[in-house]
Amino acid sequence: MSVKFVETALRDGHQSLMATRLTTDEILSVLPELDQAGYYALEVWGGATFDACLRYLNEDPWERLRKIKAQTKNTKLQMLFRGQNILGYKHYPDDIVEKFVEKSIENGIDIIRIFDALNDLRNLETSAKAIKKYHGHLQIALSYTTSPVHSIDYYVDLANQAQDMGADSLCIKDMSGILMPDVAYNLIKALKKNISIPINFHTHATSGLAPITYKRAIDAGIDMVDTALSPLSGGTSQVATEAIATLIGDESKLDFNHLENAKETLTRIKDKYIENGILNPKALTPNPKILHSQIPGGMISNLLNQLKDQKALDKYEEVLEEVPRVRKDLGYPPLVTPMSQMVGTQAIMNILAKERYKLVPDEIKAYLRGNYGKAPGHIDPEFRKSIIGDDPVLDHRPADDLKPRFDILKEKYKDIARSEEDVLSLALFEPVALKYLKGLKDDVVEFTLHTGEQS
Ligand code: CO
Repeated sequence: MSVKFVETALRDGHQSLMATRLTTDEILSVLPELDQAGYYALEVWGGATFDACLRYLNEDPWERLRKIKAQTKNTKLQMLFRGQNILGYKHYPDDIVEKFVEKSIENGIDIIRIFDALNDLRNLETSAKAIKKYHGHLQIALSYTTSPVHSIDYYVDLANQAQDMGADSLCIKDMSGILMPDVAYNLIKALKKNISIPINFHTHATSGLAPITYKRAIDAGIDMVDTALSPLSGGTSQVATEAIATLIGDESKLDFNHLENAKETLTRIKDKYIENGILNPKALTPNPKILHSQIPGGMISNLLNQLKDQKALDKYEEVLEEVPRVRKDLGYPPLVTPMSQMVGTQAIMNILAKERYKLVPDEIKAYLRGNYGKAPGHIDPEFRKSIIGDDPVLDHRPADDLKPRFDILKEKYKDIARSEEDVLSLALFEPVALKYLKGLKDDVVEFTLHTGEQS
């Protein structure tokens, strides 16, 4: 069985375990070995890496990408991209989405994996078209979750639509690590029967079951798997590359000498982050409870932080029980960024206010007005009305209402932006990018153990 490998240590691995803090120099130190190891692709950019570069590392994310590209001669480079949200948390106008795709490909990205938190494929139309226009590999990822609406038929239907949108490959993205082994087998079998493009499987080792899930995915004929080199694998990250490669045998096409050299370098780097506390060894411990609660690890640490700020840690269990109820009210959104943060905040407010939906964050109101896209499941009209009154509910793609903005930002920042790439950094993360570009190093060291992002 031939299975292609996508190495995630340099994106999801360090994002999941150590708050995305690998520096460009550290990445470059391990890259030549990874580039020679025979991977199909290296995931190196997107997700939280862009924000972390600017916010915590005082690095230019575009410069990072160009340096990575210059040292990667044999392997495709892959990034993660949240469709109309790009790498941010809200919908951006089409001109910014298209320009971001153009510049990502121009600076070295080969494969762009796009996904939408709600699996509303309308939110992927603009990025998908742009990826095809600039000759990138379009991979459409479906956010995996469980609910009465998220059946195998539901995913097969979405996969067919993704294929019709021109996807070069599909990804099943189990950001919480809750896809059970036998479900994975049935899901991938059904997908293989119904679509012809290659399928990638992305999961997280969080629950402890992931290696078995990989085995079942391979049995079902998966084409590609996402794995992380052992030093940055396990726990909330992916399963170890070397382990799955050994399971597959010679057909993995991976060269263990190069993997071993890369492992040694990455182990030294990892040890440094354990010593300085950025990599909390707790992130490496399996959390089988997630299979019952379905609440991803990053979201749990976010809930705990918010409750600590409110001096309400004693309400933790009540909040955990409220999360699935809120999710049901909202039509079962997958718990991925930004929905995971929104559902978590609403659950906390419902418990702390001692009355459900007495307090409602603006983001939840916007969601109920359809500003994030279509909810996967049904939302009770009475419930909706109790929150947003008679406000109109969007029946079209949310970004249709957004006016072009790139040229406005380009003009606004003509004295500080050195390039169109800088304008894009400003478009996505205006205050931090501005601070970076003004050459002001952060004098306040922001110390966050986990970004709380699930991807
Ligand atoms: Co992930």
